[in-house]
Amino acid sequence: MSDTAGRPLIAPSILSADFARLADEVAAVAGSDWLHVDVMDNHFVPNLTIGLPVVESLLAVTDIPMDCHLMIEDPGRWAPPYAEAGAHNVTFHAEATDDPVAVARDIRAAGAKAGLGIKPGTALEPYLEILRDFDTLLVMSVEPGFGGQAFIPEVLDKVRTMRKLVDSGELTILIEIDGGINADTIEAAAEAGVDCFVAGSAVYGTADPAATVEALRRQAAAVSPHRHR
Ligand code: DX5
Ligand code: ZN
Repeated sequence: MSDTAGRPLIAPSILSADFARLADEVAAVAGSDWLHVDVMDNHFVPNLTIGLPVVESLLAVTDIPMDCHLMIEDPGRWAPPYAEAGAHNVTFHAEATDDPVAVARDIRAAGAKAGLGIKPGTALEPYLEILRDFDTLLVMSVEPGFGGQAFIPEVLDKVRTMRKLVDSGELTILIEIDGGINADTIEAAAEAGVDCFVAGSAVYGTADPAATVEALRRQAAAVSPHRHR
């Protein structure tokens, strides 16, 4: 998969952007690898954000590949339309469905990469068997629902396990991390083996978000030169 080769990917989360100026806020992270869009339904998580109409509008104003992170119930019903709309990657949560493989197949059939999200307290092992049906594993490093929370370092054990499986050729999947990623935490995540780093408050809380994306990418690349040439 081309996304996994080469440099680390940085995916700014627009959850920390100004929702009244979304097109400008997307333009402010030009040069990003993915644009991370957090969809919350106030059921799977205790917060409510945006949905498909806003994603469709964003797709019309940017060429940055869209990374939709669905923190919602009933992903079997709601996830495929994001793929049909043109999202690059559509991630839903393992905890939200009894049939993640069916949802992944529908997302792929609609033309997007399929991602499986797991909360900090969710073990990886029960899902290892089904990861062949996915393109992305999103390891949450905060409880999903809000930006600006502190990074939970214990989740890096799951990243290390995945890195070994990918490097040994047993799995081909992109390892993504989401929550509390900033200049103080990105190196530990990169060392553990993350390919794609979501960052919300660390990017949009700075005066020059595009420069911050570039700085985070350089930081991640510097500590994992064996993979990120
Ligand atoms: C939280 C979201 C994250 C959030 C990350 O549920 O999934 O994508 O935007 O925000 P930071 O980077 O501020 O932790
Ligand atoms: Zn997210």
